[in-house]
Amino acid sequence: EKGGYDYFMLKEIAEQPQAIADTLRGRLAETGEITLDEVRLTDQDLRDVDKVFIVACGTAYHAGMVAKYAIEHWTRIPCEVELASEFRYRDPVLDRSTLVVAISQSGETMDTLMALRHAKQQKARVLAICNTNGSTIPRESDAVLYTHGGPEIAVASTKAFLTQLAACYLVGLHLAQVRGVMYADEVAAVVEQLRGTPSKVDRVLEQMEPVRELARDLAEAKSVLFIGRHVGYPVALEGALKLKELAYMHAEGFAAGELKHGPIALIDQGTPVVCVVPSARGRGVLRDKVISNIQEVRARGARTVVIAEEGDDGVARYADHLIVVPPTPTLLAPLVTTVPLQVLACEIASARGHDVDQPRNLAKSVTVE
Ligand code: BG6
Repeated sequence: EKGGYDYFMLKEIAEQPQAIADTLRGRLAETGEITLDEVRLTDQDLRDVDKVFIVACGTAYHAGMVAKYAIEHWTRIPCEVELASEFRYRDPVLDRSTLVVAISQSGETMDTLMALRHAKQQKARVLAICNTNGSTIPRESDAVLYTHGGPEIAVASTKAFLTQLAACYLVGLHLAQVRGVMYADEVAAVVEQLRGTPSKVDRVLEQMEPVRELARDLAEAKSVLFIGRHVGYPVALEGALKLKELAYMHAEGFAAGELKHGPIALIDQGTPVVCVVPSARGRGVLRDKVISNIQEVRARGARTVVIAEEGDDGVARYADHLIVVPPTPTLLAPLVTTVPLQVLACEIASARGHDVDQPRNLAKSVTVE
């Protein structure tokens, strides 16, 4: 049932290219229009949206953080991301022109469900991004976009995360299109780039041997830090979360630019720092800023694991360990840069002798608040 893999998690990591492709399939009509699944909202409702809130927990929250960058960039609608458990208790400002996007693999997470119910009471429109057909969260929402990731057995989420990202991109593009901010051909161009991502993930997966070696090296580390900027920041948070969940190690993700305002004090001789480097194309400025941040940590003795784009020849000299991924447009890059971090956490946990699929203290779906 594990398809020849030692763990469900490794099987699910390997299934990611297919899961992304399945999530994208059939969403783009001949006309170039993106279609969602069950939408009990009119296009006019979507045109009236003046604010988007994304609510989610754990890994799904990190997908929401990535989505914020894409949704604001493509739609020009202000978008906030919030942990579902915090959302309703702070009395958020919601009305019928607010769109609340609830992201949940299981569709049963109580924190997310309660946030959704609160949003509905306040008359907000709710759209669910969910992997489980007919579960509570999509049933109670006004619209649903299902991720077609297939069942995820390992407690730590992997393929669900990448399909949530794909679904979030589709929501952003759909909103941009309905509101007339992007033309059909512009939307189709991004969808084309999205369609290219499964084969890129495949290529990343083919190059995981150095990551496995690195995992054996890092298995005794006291703490591992992760840094990134822009969409690389949630990727850093996700890399750290995976390591906490699976290896029970201290791991923290930071916005690379924030390091100098405090966390850099944590860095000591040999502290492993995983650095997610943005694409050198497009917004090269982001990439250069991260390189400066890498230099800052190296000057304090950090041992750097650098995730960078193939062909970015300038980064090698800042890397004690270099992991390359295929070039991918900035906003879509988390679909590829997350993958080595999943493998790294899985292999470190396995090297430490832990049950990768059933980490202690965690449940696949948490149905209490
Ligand atoms: C946690 C799981 O309890 O719930 C995480 O251990 C998951 O892996 C989070 O990301 C949210 O779950 P869901 O089903 O709402 O996406």
